[in-house]
Amino acid sequence: MISNQEIEEIVTASINAPSGSNSQPWKFRVFNNQLEILGFPEKDHPILNFRNRGTWIAHGALIENINIAATAFGYEAQIQVFPNGENTGITGRINFKKTEKPKDELFDSILLRATNRKPYKDKILTVKQKREFLISAQEINPNCDIRITEDKLAKNILGSAVSVNEVVMLENEKLHQLFFDEIVWTKEEESKKQKGLYLKTMELGFPQRTALRLFKHWSIMKIANKFGVAKKIANDNAKTYSASSIMGIIIVDDTDKDFIDAGRIIERLWLKATNEKLEFHLITGVMFFYQRVMSDPKGFSPVHIELIKKTYNQIKEVFKVEKGVIAGLFRIGEDGKPTARSIKSPPEFIKKYV
Ligand SMILES: Cc1cc2nc3c(=O)[nH]c(=O)nc-3n(C[C@H](O)[C@H](O)[C@H](O)COP(=O)(O)O)c2cc1C
Repeated sequence: MISNQEIEEIVTASINAPSGSNSQPWKFRVFNNQLEILGFPEKDHPILNFRNRGTWIAHGALIENINIAATAFGYEAQIQVFPNGENTGITGRINFKKTEKPKDELFDSILLRATNRKPYKDKILTVKQKREFLISAQEINPNCDIRITEDKLAKNILGSAVSVNEVVMLENEKLHQLFFDEIVWTKEEESKKQKGLYLKTMELGFPQRTALRLFKHWSIMKIANKFGVAKKIANDNAKTYSASSIMGIIIVDDTDKDFIDAGRIIERLWLKATNEKLEFHLITGVMFFYQRVMSDPKGFSPVHIELIKKTYNQIKEVFKVEKGVIAGLFRIGEDGKPTARSIKSPPEFIKKYV
């Protein structure tokens, strides 16, 4: 039987999972030789995190890491998602069974995985690589789907579409504040907080970094927007996003469990790309804004609501999506390494069963 210490070691080996602005919205409880993963959606962006689904994607990625890491310790993870139902605080309960199966080949990439927000080279991926990426959905949930494109025009449309996030974020006072609250400006601050969006991971040039420091003041941002600055930033970012070998989306059903599965699929994709020495960038803003405005558009201007709807439909058209929800868009390509990586807090284990 697995020991509690082994479970803690598996979790520690799995902690390098993506989360919205590196929020790491999780804690752990180990008892009766099983693991429970506890969700803290309040650590995530209150407006983007529609129905806590950003949190669930992060938890899905973490669960998939645990699934993979267990094999390195000689165990097979038996995963129950929302074992007590949704919104009970427990996103996953995992039991571990001894197995003779070899270590998962994705294990070594868990620690290497990182977000890379640079423009990538336009390298053509092999058929085998693309096939491997595409089957990631079937490996987790056959009702989910991955679509990819390498067409230049499609990538340009998608780059512009997802950059609408920056227009909305920087032209809306509340969203602007939430965005700047998440930025961590220096390495020292990051080491202390061990969360947040570290400036250097944003891959900005010196002029953009300097401008960002000014734009954190809404009074300045507001004036700058009169001269179209938010749209200019979005246009520049659109070029970076399109500079990728492939861009793709993950399509899921409209349940919370599907967003956990989306996270598991995303993590598999990411680790497979890392195994192939390819870079990966997950982009979700517009997709989450869309879900939000379709449910409750309060707080968004009529112009932004129309822009978000139009943009989401453009993404749907590129990939010919007929049903389901687009959980996120990703880009893959070759670059080298990101300039900086985000720090992760050590896992917090709640000792007592409360
Ligand atoms: C649900 C979710 C949404 C995300 N959305 C974005 C996004 O829209 N743009 C982006 O650049 N990164 C996005 N990320 C990536 C996170 O910012 C990143 O995982 C986090 O900062 C930690 O960095 P790491 O991936 O290098 O560990 C998202 C991650 C998750 C899990």
